[in-house]
Amino acid sequence: MARDTFYTSVDIGTDKVTSIMARVGTEGELKVLGTGVVTSQGMQKGRIENIDEVQETVRASMEEAQRYIGNGVPSGVYTSVTGVHLSSLNTKDVVDNPDDVGDISAKLLDRLLRGSFPDVGPNQEVLHVIPIGYHVDGMSGIRNPVGLHGNLVEVEAHVVLGESVALKNTAKVIESNKATVKQMVLHSLASAEATLSGDEKEMGVVLADIGGGTTDIVIYRQGQPWYSAVIPVGGSQLTRDLSVALKTPMYMTEEMKIKWGSVMPEMIAADEEVVIPSFQGQPKHSLSRRILCEPLHDRMLELIKLIVLKVRQSGLREFPTGGLVLTGGGAEMTGLTDLVQKTLGGTVRIAYPEGISGLPAQLRKPAFSAGVGLLLWGIKHQGETRSSMNGGRS
Ligand SMILES: Nc1ncnc2c1ncn2[C@@H]1O[C@H](COP(=O)(O)OP(=O)(O)O)[C@@H](O)[C@H]1O
Ligand SMILES: [Mg+2]
Repeated sequence: MARDTFYTSVDIGTDKVTSIMARVGTEGELKVLGTGVVTSQGMQKGRIENIDEVQETVRASMEEAQRYIGNGVPSGVYTSVTGVHLSSLNTKDVVDNPDDVGDISAKLLDRLLRGSFPDVGPNQEVLHVIPIGYHVDGMSGIRNPVGLHGNLVEVEAHVVLGESVALKNTAKVIESNKATVKQMVLHSLASAEATLSGDEKEMGVVLADIGGGTTDIVIYRQGQPWYSAVIPVGGSQLTRDLSVALKTPMYMTEEMKIKWGSVMPEMIAADEEVVIPSFQGQPKHSLSRRILCEPLHDRMLELIKLIVLKVRQSGLREFPTGGLVLTGGGAEMTGLTDLVQKTLGGTVRIAYPEGISGLPAQLRKPAFSAGVGLLLWGIKHQGETRSSMNGGRS
C-alpha cells in the first residue's frame, strides 16, 4: 500500500485546540507545515458541551494551520478523545488453528482480535482493541505469532470504550470542517507516542498527561498499553482553587499561577512577597508567595493521590520500574517533580514531545505531546480503518 504523504492532527483539549499539518519528506521523516493553536470554547473536562463553540474553535485552529499551506490539504484527520465517558478493560480470546491450516497467519490473528471485541451496551462504542500479547499452545509472552506453528492461539488485548454520543460529537466537529476522521485516538495513547521511550514501555511506566480539565493516564507493560483511565481533574482546577483563595477572576489568576505558582511552597523563601493587582475595587496588595502557593500544593497533592489510586485500581501494587512520566500543560507547574519525589519517591520526569526532528519551537512544550503524538500515531497506524481498531503492533 502506498504510504500517505500528508498527516493532519486535531487535538481537542479542554484548554486549547491544536491542529498540526505535516508532510512526509523524501527520507520518510515528518515535516510540520502548519500549526494552529486556539483557546478552547465549549469543552468541559474533555467532553464537548457546546458543539457549535467547539466546531468554531476547531475551524479556527484548522484554518490557522492551513494558512501556511494554501489549499489542497488532506482531508483525513487524526483526532484525540478524552473524558470520563471512556473506560477500559483487558480481554482474552482464543482461536483454534487446525493442523491442516498450517502456520499462524495474519488473517487468523485478525479473526482472533475481532473475536476479542467485548459486547458493548447500546450507548457505547469500541475505540481501541490493542493486542498486549499472545499465547500459543500455552507458551506465553509471544509478541507476534505470525508464521509460528501452533494450534491454540490466545490473545490478550487492551480495549478502550467510549460513549457513542461523545464520540459522534467529536466526529461531527471534524466533519463540519470539511474533513473526515481517519482515526480517533485516546488522548493518553497519543501523548505516549510522543513522550515514552521504547525502554520505558518495556520496563513498564505510568504516563499522566495533565491537561486543563482532565489527567489522562496510560500504563505500559512489556511494551504495550495495559491500562488506561481519565481523571476529571487538571490544571484549571489549580487555577480555580487559587481564584477562590485570592478572590481574583480566572484570567488574572491563570497569569499569576504561571508567574508565581509552585506546588512546593516550602522551597520558597518565607519572606518573598508578590503584589496582587487591584480588581473590582479591591486595592492592589502584597501577599506572601508561599501562602499564594498553598492551594496549588494541596490540589496537586490530591491529583498525585488520584494517580496513585488509578495505578492501584489497575492491579499494580507499586509503580513499574519506568516510574512516572508527566506531560501536558499542567506538568509545567513549578515544583512538580520535587513534590512527586517527596510524595512517592521513585523515578519521575517531565516529558516534552519528541519523535519529529525540526519540530517548530512553538510545539516543543508538554502541552503539545498529544498533538505531536497523533501525527506519530498516524504514521504508525496508517491504512487502518476504524473497524480494524489499531491491531498493528509497533
Ligand atoms: N508554565 C505553566 N505552569 C503551570 N501550569 C501551566 C503552564 N503552562 C500551562 N499550564 C496549565 O496547563 C493546563 C493546560 O494544559 P494543556 O495540556 O494545554 O490542556 P488541554 O489538553 O486541556 O488543552 C492549564 O491548566 C494551564 O494552566
Ligand atoms: Mg491535552
